[in-house]
Amino acid sequence: MIEISNVSKTFQQRGSAPYTAIQNVSLTINKGEFVSLLGPSGCGKSTLLNLVAGLEKAEQGTITVNGKPCGGPGPDRVVVFQEHALFPWLTVLENVAFGLKQKGIGKAEREAIAKEHIKAVHLSKFTDRYPHELSGGMKQRAAIARALAMDSDILLMDEPFAALDEQTRLILHKDLEEIWLKTRKTILFITHNIREAVILSDRVLVMSTRPGSIKKEFAVQASRPRNQADPVLHHVEAHIMEALADELEKVVREETGDEYSLKKNDLSNPASSGMGGGI
Ligand SMILES: Nc1ncnc2c1ncn2[C@@H]1O[C@H](COP(=O)(O)OP(=O)(O)OP(=O)(O)O)[C@@H](O)[C@H]1O
Ligand SMILES: [Mg+2]
Repeated sequence: MIEISNVSKTFQQRGSAPYTAIQNVSLTINKGEFVSLLGPSGCGKSTLLNLVAGLEKAEQGTITVNGKPCGGPGPDRVVVFQEHALFPWLTVLENVAFGLKQKGIGKAEREAIAKEHIKAVHLSKFTDRYPHELSGGMKQRAAIARALAMDSDILLMDEPFAALDEQTRLILHKDLEEIWLKTRKTILFITHNIREAVILSDRVLVMSTRPGSIKKEFAVQASRPRNQADPVLHHVEAHIMEALADELEKVVREETGDEYSLKKNDLSNPASSGMGGGI
């Protein structure tokens, strides 16, 4: 379980006043829960994820992971970023096994563990390929296999599918859901894609900006495995669109004054946005 209590983060900026990226954020993510964060660019999503990862330090509030204060990165949390960050000089197998080597696990055992996770992301035919020989979707699958191989309870995913085309995304949604249903890891997932958040998550949190805070939360009470056509998903999606439209309108107004106004209908009709609205 992740408990974020009254957390604020202020960045010191060269030549200008300190900037409060997130303020008084409180949030509990239960063990085995899949939670997504949505919100306008710059609202503090990555900052919050990095705080949970232990990559940043909050100057106010506390974050605990399974009851223990999170003072820095730990083996109980693993991060998957938008850029796969695979080592280009290592094969898929070697990349996935890399962290296990660091843990001191012997060669035969780490290869067996790595192969099992490579199979879970459907890359078994590509174990000996180097990253440059893979498609974007395959690279991201390899990155997920590498994260899963670490066997941490918590996966922190910062826009892991943002650079992929829609078809590949849909396939990876299925893969990730399948893995999550099998492993029941706790997942904190950041995306700009509303449909992606809804289809994957138990709960979607919409953040507001300047300073970032949790504005609203939406439970997605649809059955699993999720079905694209489930009306429950469309219903939640429409409500999230509305909450986000308010937030985006606020951002646009602050940035442009009264020059330009964003009409709610521009954003709040998911049916008009193909496979899912992005923000
Ligand atoms: N190291 C830093 N120093 C100064 N300001 C920072 C730093 N990191 C983030 N910020 C600022 O904090 C705010 C929140 O940034 P963050 O990266 O968390 O946003 P985000 O919601 O993840 O945005 P995006 O959707 O574009 O990824 C931004 O205004 C950003 O400029
Ligand atoms: Mg970010």
